[in-house]
Amino acid sequence: YIFGFVTPDGTGYVHLIATRDDARGTGLGRRLYAAFAEAAQAHGARQLKAITSIENTGSIAFHRSLGFDTKVVDDYNGPGQAMAVFHRDLPLNVSQP
Ligand SMILES: CC(C)(COP(=O)(O)OP(=O)(O)OC[C@H]1O[C@@H](n2cnc3c(N)ncnc32)[C@H](O)[C@@H]1OP(=O)(O)O)[C@@H](O)C(=O)NCCC(=O)NCCS
Repeated sequence: YIFGFVTPDGTGYVHLIATRDDARGTGLGRRLYAAFAEAAQAHGARQLKAITSIENTGSIAFHRSLGFDTKVVDDYNGPGQAMAVFHRDLPLNVSQP
């Protein structure tokens, strides 16, 4: 599943994405992102954003594979709570990230 929304300033924000553990590595996560990106663009989005914990190395590798820039932002979730923050422009070309 993928849950997200489009902010008034044109950001397609992905709040949650997950695929079943027995389906991982098959391209399903990439296809879910492509569907979200298309829907978000149709609602006026010009870029995508997502966040994850800095310990979630699988999510960080996944977002990098999809062409997201990754930054670790100190105190993002409150004092001492750093998060990995992902950004990329649209369109999302799934075959050429
Ligand atoms: C992150 C997640 C959604 C990826 O889904 P997926 O269906 O396995 O992803 P895909 O098969 O579409 O992979 C797309 C690319 O990401 C890479 N990738 C995915 N998971 C990876 C991992 N754990 N480590 C390294 N690379 C990874 C794949 O190799 C692939 O790269 P390529 O196309 O360049 O070869 C899935 O692992 C998941 O549900 N994780 C648990 C929930 C989670 O952490 N969600 C994100 C934070 S909310």
